[in-house]
Amino acid sequence: MTIQRQKNLPNIPYMHQIAVIPGDLNGKTVTDAVLTVNDALVEAKKFKNPIIHEIFLYDADYFLREGITELREQELNELKRNDHIFLGAIGDPTKIKPGVIEIGLLLKIRQAFDQYVNLRPVVLPEGVPSVIVGKYHKDINFEICRENSEGLYVAKGRIENPGTNDEIGIQEMWCSYKGVKRLAEYAAERAIIKGNEKGKKPTLHFVFKNNVLTYASPPWDRVFQEYQKREDINVRYMHIDNFIMQMVTNPAQFDVVITENMFGDIATDLGAVIQGGIGTAVSGNIDPTGRFPSMFEPIHGTAPDKWYEKDAKGEYIPGTFRPDLVQQIKPEAAFMSYAMMLEQIGEVIAADTMKQAALANLRNPNYKTNSLDKLVEQACDFVRAK
Ligand code: IPM
Ligand code: MN
Repeated sequence: MTIQRQKNLPNIPYMHQIAVIPGDLNGKTVTDAVLTVNDALVEAKKFKNPIIHEIFLYDADYFLREGITELREQELNELKRNDHIFLGAIGDPTKIKPGVIEIGLLLKIRQAFDQYVNLRPVVLPEGVPSVIVGKYHKDINFEICRENSEGLYVAKGRIENPGTNDEIGIQEMWCSYKGVKRLAEYAAERAIIKGNEKGKKPTLHFVFKNNVLTYASPPWDRVFQEYQKREDINVRYMHIDNFIMQMVTNPAQFDVVITENMFGDIATDLGAVIQGGIGTAVSGNIDPTGRFPSMFEPIHGTAPDKWYEKDAKGEYIPGTFRPDLVQQIKPEAAFMSYAMMLEQIGEVIAADTMKQAALANLRNPNYKTNSLDKLVEQACDFVRAK
């Protein structure tokens, strides 16, 4: 299943147009690495159609300079002209309060472009060790489709009696029938692909907390009931707390999982750990209708601890650049997120080559001590040799 945004230009050969938001710190570094490997892919003629990138420097400095706390119509319109978006990572705590750019850029784009699926594979690559003893690729090979447009992240709520002893913070969880249904539709298609890959009838798990969240769960329960009628896939329900435990004790039972926004946010960090670490975890914020660009990003953040020293209070000190630590940054999650994007636009050879280059780095016995430059160089060499 690929989403290719239609261009109304008959007789003109298709050209992929990608918006690139490097972001801050580590985000800029890994994006640079991605574009270097992209050039190697182009040189090695791995693309069917040409690909061009437009770079958008929407970072902490941009937010400060423009005096904004969220992207405006003008920025969103610029981004919208592109087929898809690649995002490095955003946030620099020495410049901007944590949370501002996360909400004003990342959550803003996800919602404005109705990227209602956050596709986060939890796949332990063959030959890469898991932190779970005795678990291998055959055991950890599934996908979490995190609901990405509503749930607890709709940013609705209120604070009652602020500053008093009766202060109450109220955060609302919105789960709509249409929201769960469209997520399930996408996930069911993914499940069929996963089932074909594994050579079995796939299972789609609905993960929620319907024993407690009695107001938010009826839409989840209703869609679950409807899906029980499907004959081509097994459909199961699991509470989120149980799911978290089973991700560790019995991950082999999972093929595709759908869950609410915050549950998915938390579960996919655990997913990253069991699949080889945060440096291997990729994600696609997807609008399956193709109406808007989708956005692909590594799950890791900007890694400020690799850039700045901290003061006695634990705050990062601006300008205390640590080049020795920057060389420890790993670009593989970014490579594989970019590869996920290439796969979505139908560039399967380029996608696979880039993914295999990242995996070759991960499997290298010297992986942990290899510098960033070395990893990029090895990835380019791999692409050229393939
Ligand atoms: C993620 C991140 C974001 C999220 C934050 C930075 C808004 O944690 O992509 O998982 O919660 O979605
Ligand atoms: Mn997260």
